[in-house]
Amino acid sequence: MTDHKTYTIAEMGGWERFYRANFLNSISGFKPLNLIATVDAQGVSNLGLFSNIVHLGADPALVGFVNRPREAAPHTLGNIELGGFYTINHVHPEILARAHQCSAKYPDGVSEFAETGLTEEWVDGLPVPYVRESLIRYALELVQVNPIPMNGTFFVIGRVLQAQLDPSLVSADGFIDISRADSLVSTGLDAYGRVSALARYRYAKPDKASEQIPWVS
Ligand SMILES: Cc1cc2nc3c(=O)[nH]c(=O)nc-3n(C[C@H](O)[C@H](O)[C@H](O)COP(=O)(O)O)c2cc1C
Repeated sequence: MTDHKTYTIAEMGGWERFYRANFLNSISGFKPLNLIATVDAQGVSNLGLFSNIVHLGADPALVGFVNRPREAAPHTLGNIELGGFYTINHVHPEILARAHQCSAKYPDGVSEFAETGLTEEWVDGLPVPYVRESLIRYALELVQVNPIPMNGTFFVIGRVLQAQLDPSLVSADGFIDISRADSLVSTGLDAYGRVSALARYRYAKPDKASEQIPWVS
């Protein structure tokens, strides 16, 4: 696979809408597959499937995600703006079909937990539930909603309050072996994949050749 063809943006502009969306959604790479749980003003829980999630920094612990325009995906964003809290829950193969179903546009007041059979798990002091079936999950408090006027999307930034996972997934140096939890990735609009561990490398320095470190967890 070395025969590169150049696809110009002008050519892409002439493509059918879904073809173009599939192509451009794939090109940025594998994305982490997660369910975001929130609660509305009436106390009804909500789950949305999100993959445009990115680590922003460890101190303070910040994570950002992209929310589509409000008309297309109103519930997660609205609930976060209202309540200020949400949980992010990794998806693994056993819950993939139910997680995918959470991308459907359910009406206001309908809980994707009830619709899909995923289970709310409430912990003391947190006003939003976790997804019980998720193996790696964390709770956040809203810091900032950044509108992106060019396309009507929002970049939502949250501060991590706590995380829940099996400690056996955490290495001596703090690295979490998320591949061992079978946390999935997404590509394009509708494709999902597994990740197999390959290698860990020591922090790179200009005057030293790259050096592997053991993968122990
Ligand atoms: C694989 C996959 C990944 C998705 N990632 C995102 C995302 O990162 N941001 C987003 O706004 N919508 C994303 N969606 C669409 C939402 O899941 C969908 O709009 C959902 O209905 C949002 O729910 P809400 O209105 O309850 O927030 C994704 C859908 C799929 C199938």
